[in-house]
Amino acid sequence: MELLSSKERVDTALKKVKVIPDSIRLKPEGEIVWVELDLPGEKANKFSSGVLLRLRQIIAELGKSTYKAAIFVSRKNNIFIAGADIEEIKGLKTAQEAEDACNIGQTIYNELENLQIPIIAAIHGACVGGGCEFVLACDYRICTNDPSTKIGLPEVNLGVIPGFGGTQRLPRVIGLQNSLDIILAGKTVPGAKALKSGLVDQCVPKEILEEIARKVAKEAIEKGKRQKRFKPQGFMNVLLENPLGNQVVFHQARKALLAQTKGNYPAPEKALEVVKKTYGMKLEKGLKIERQAFGEMAITDVSKNLINLFFMTEMVKKSTGVSGNVTPHKVEAVAVLGAGTMGGGIAQLAAEKEISVRLKDVNFEAIGKGLRAAQDIFSKALKRKKINSYEMKRKMALISGSTDYSGFKSEDVVIEAIVEDINVKRKVLAETASHCKEDVILASNTSSLSITEIGRDLPKPENFVGMHFFNPVHRMPLIEVIRGEKTNDEAAATIYALSKKLGKTPIVVKDGPGFLVNRLLMPYLNESVFILADGNSIEYIDKSLLKFGMPMGPLLLIDEIGIDVAVKVAKILGAGLGSRAEPSPLMSKVVDTKRFGKKNKKGFYKYDANGRSTGVDSTVYAELGLGSPKNNLNEEQLVHRALFPMINEAALCVEEKIVESPEMVDLGMIMGTGFPPFRGGLLRWADSLGAQKIVDELEIMVGKYGLRFKPSAPLRNRAKNNLKFYGK
Ligand code: NAI
Repeated sequence: MELLSSKERVDTALKKVKVIPDSIRLKPEGEIVWVELDLPGEKANKFSSGVLLRLRQIIAELGKSTYKAAIFVSRKNNIFIAGADIEEIKGLKTAQEAEDACNIGQTIYNELENLQIPIIAAIHGACVGGGCEFVLACDYRICTNDPSTKIGLPEVNLGVIPGFGGTQRLPRVIGLQNSLDIILAGKTVPGAKALKSGLVDQCVPKEILEEIARKVAKEAIEKGKRQKRFKPQGFMNVLLENPLGNQVVFHQARKALLAQTKGNYPAPEKALEVVKKTYGMKLEKGLKIERQAFGEMAITDVSKNLINLFFMTEMVKKSTGVSGNVTPHKVEAVAVLGAGTMGGGIAQLAAEKEISVRLKDVNFEAIGKGLRAAQDIFSKALKRKKINSYEMKRKMALISGSTDYSGFKSEDVVIEAIVEDINVKRKVLAETASHCKEDVILASNTSSLSITEIGRDLPKPENFVGMHFFNPVHRMPLIEVIRGEKTNDEAAATIYALSKKLGKTPIVVKDGPGFLVNRLLMPYLNESVFILADGNSIEYIDKSLLKFGMPMGPLLLIDEIGIDVAVKVAKILGAGLGSRAEPSPLMSKVVDTKRFGKKNKKGFYKYDANGRSTGVDSTVYAELGLGSPKNNLNEEQLVHRALFPMINEAALCVEEKIVESPEMVDLGMIMGTGFPPFRGGLLRWADSLGAQKIVDELEIMVGKYGLRFKPSAPLRNRAKNNLKFYGK
């Protein structure tokens, strides 16, 4: 039984909150009042408790005033409201605390909705989470068609559900199907799409937003308040907006959701459950169910892990990548050496981000291939309406091809992506340096060679950095920025900043075999082949790891990378890291049977003419002399056998300071390999199991499978002293 009413609970809770007085201010204009959102000292408006309290004061003032309409606007650049304060969500300890926090937001938004005067939201820039829920409580919504304007509910990406009324008001405004699309996928939509679904009433150019808002306010004064309700239009919508149609929508949404999350992400499932339970219910009742569900979600490990991931990426956004106080070079023009798989992708990415690129290769045929690869990526974006044909042409025009070094004097950065051969790379980079300005930064996309060694004889090894992209460049979010022994802070910071300008997440890595990601990925891929050799089926291995949450099974991934490439990298790592990286003999045997994977449509899997995998190639077993698989490990044994070597190696990477912190290992693995975000990353997962358990199991595996499982000294040490990777 609740002893206090929800309003009383809010009043009591807000007594402890310190108001942020300047975060919202009133600017009267005759019978209309502008309400300006402008959180001091921040780039974004965030609805922390202090701001919400201020909002409540403003609402009370509006209630008492003689104004006839109020228009909410942001005074920030390209941000309307970025949502609730995620620091506060992170700090929530109990479900009750989380529920109470929602109650505050819900109550204040209700008070806004219940004002007697019409409220207009004039939205420019990001309007997400609590920001979107705020505008849903307004009477009229007008937004700009600027690319920075995005409206939506990304809460499930943080492992929670909308808690300030989003699950209630969005379906009321845009209907069931449209709202589930946004809520379950944690999506934001641009202005034009928001208009189409009815989420906003008008979508206008930025320059006239306030003028239009004023006009709408004046009309609203005449027409009065309104409560916008979704009216189904078109045959399908009418069909779906009735109890039977609703059931079909819920059923389909759940099916699609589970296919995507595989049951690993509770928040979107909970959001669906809430909408299903409350659709058509009275607002007050629905809000209560919403906030209880939010409370349940906010304290899950998944939510904690996803919020930590959010803060890790925020850390990267703020960081320069170096500890020294240096200014990165300004990068306006970039050259790429090698127009192959990687070079073509890098050139496309640079052009996409408005950087002019010179693409150099040994002949025009190769350059043509690179240009075509870039064009293909843009064409796909065009098809998906991400860009228009004018933009596509303009961006493609930023890429120029060359077989010589003409124009290299004006390049700020040159990224080398030619054959993986140290002598060729050294020779080509020395030649390149002689054609560039003195302070040019040279970067190499090598995947396995030492940056220190490649840069050894360059005139300025301090200006040489590793810039390791992942394939396919336009999709993979990570870049490893590798410092050779002589790389200076300025060069590292320049490549770090360039990586961010390219829209990627950089992590700084010390030079060493496989850098970070390949060093950790290879033992896992290698062990999967050992597991196959020991009598487990390809399907079983891949399915077990998919179920764990990896985006793709390890054997399918080897096919994607190319089995020949995997063997080559495994051998290099074996040479660099010793017995624990000893390559599986079966891997070389697969290559001997001319199975290279997807590229020659023959690997662990079969492929159709378009290169799409059509299932396991069961002829592999007989061809490799494996006999029929017996699946002699249970799922947990299999997953631990494949992934514990990764943790063992990661403990060494932390010890050797290959990256600065456990956070960077986790960020690297999530962004570089798709390690399941809901687990928080490799080392957070390791912490959840405990070092002692991992060491004990590794010891058993040493006895069963060999010395490559020997627990590393830093891991043993953690077990002995009961230490976690993240604090105590
Ligand atoms: P690729 O074989 O597709 O392309 C290499 C290109 O370099 C070819 O077009 C070739 O004509 C050109 N080239 C060779 N010598 C040249 C020279 N002297 N000047 C200019 N161009 C020259 O190779 P890919 O896969 O693009 O790899 C390039 C680099 O990126 C390698 O160092 C590789 O290890 C690295 N890398 C590859 C990844 C992948 O998945 N393919 C992932 C990450 C890094």
